Amino acid sequence: MNTLASIAPAPPHVASHLVFDFDIYNDPRIDQDVQGTYAAALADAPEIFWTRFNGGHWMVKTFDRITEVVGDPVHFSVREMQIPRVENPPFFIPLSLDPPENLPFRRAMAPMFGPVAIKALEPRIRVLAAQMVAAVVDKGTCDFQTEVSKLFPVTVFMELMGMDLSRLKDFRHLAEAFFTTQNNGQELQRLSGLILAEMKNLIDEKRVRPDDKLMTHFVNVDIGGRTMTEDEILAMSFVLFLGGMDTVTNVTGFAFQQLAQMPDVQVRLADDPTLVGAFADEAIRLFGVINTPRLVVKAKTIGDANFQPGDMVLNILCVGSRDPSKFDSPNAFNLDRKRAAHLTFSTGPHLCIGHVLGRTELRILTEEWFKQIPAFTATPGERHAFRTGTVMALESLPIEWSVA
Ligand code: HEM
Repeated sequence: MNTLASIAPAPPHVASHLVFDFDIYNDPRIDQDVQGTYAAALADAPEIFWTRFNGGHWMVKTFDRITEVVGDPVHFSVREMQIPRVENPPFFIPLSLDPPENLPFRRAMAPMFGPVAIKALEPRIRVLAAQMVAAVVDKGTCDFQTEVSKLFPVTVFMELMGMDLSRLKDFRHLAEAFFTTQNNGQELQRLSGLILAEMKNLIDEKRVRPDDKLMTHFVNVDIGGRTMTEDEILAMSFVLFLGGMDTVTNVTGFAFQQLAQMPDVQVRLADDPTLVGAFADEAIRLFGVINTPRLVVKAKTIGDANFQPGDMVLNILCVGSRDPSKFDSPNAFNLDRKRAAHLTFSTGPHLCIGHVLGRTELRILTEEWFKQIPAFTATPGERHAFRTGTVMALESLPIEWSVA
């Protein structure tokens, strides 16, 4: 564990009044209300500050400053996204490419993730959501994370890619092993290899038996006079695997943790399913789960912050979406809040490709949940395990309800 005695001094280009120590992986101020305690812990920090933990790096917490940083790839690159920095950073498409290199790949993905394409997937996503809830309804209790919200996006991912759902159990095990393996580089590499092998088999299969799903689209799509190489398709499929699962799982978990404390909102959602869209929007605003890093590649000054090449910057999207200058009572869950721009999906050249799908998954799962389980509470006395970092996760959420 980091201690103040073991952390590096701030470099000379960092003004001393901008030093505010915060350990993104293990700060004692953070509890299971992860985003709420994060915002509280940073309430007195400058809008851009330097923490001496984890090798020393910048943190950006306000809506406008984050928008400025993630919208400026000339100074702030996605080439490296590890804090502390590592020697051979992983490479993803399009996430590790700055504009303009990312553009052909984003264009290749975009049509399959737009509102029309996702609307067409809705009936199938609804069937999968209803099955997931039906699997727990008679028990009167479950760990929502383990039994529902970790499983649902895996199923949706397989459907999206055109994978054979008879292999659901195996692929779920693989996904779960991948997302629960922490701090074990060798094991992560082994699991990544297995996931990539699955994707490679899928490419081969779709070349022979094309369908109207995402992998067939990747195999055939034109990216400026050519099709994609197998390595490019694999790098894109892997980022979808990473980006489309843990994120939905964790936003859904934090949203249901909040919902468990709001019986009045549960009554409203159970009575009027048309409110579930507003619930999803407010939950997504409040429960950002990605904090996105950038590498400074060209010197830049913003306010008093003097960014130098080689510095790492972490944009705290979950706090930016609770910026008091943008939202009234920013930490309160308000089902009637007017919809407004937030940063949970980031903004700029790497705005989440899957944002329509992510919102759709949360909305449909919640709609199907309330059809079968109109009221529930968190199981008293149970601690909800969580972790923080560049991805913030809720690992357990024991809940209970009455069985008719
Ligand atoms: C509620 C759930 C989700 C959240 C909170 C979320 C959040 C984010 C954020 C913050 C980024 C930007 C990262 C950066 O700039 O460094 C991102 C990028 C991305 N997300 Fe999502 N995401 C979600 C769901 C999904 C889903 C369902 C998919 C697809 C299956 C997806 C695919 C991607 C991809 C491919 C990128 C990279 C885009 C690029 O680099 O151009 N995400 N996501």
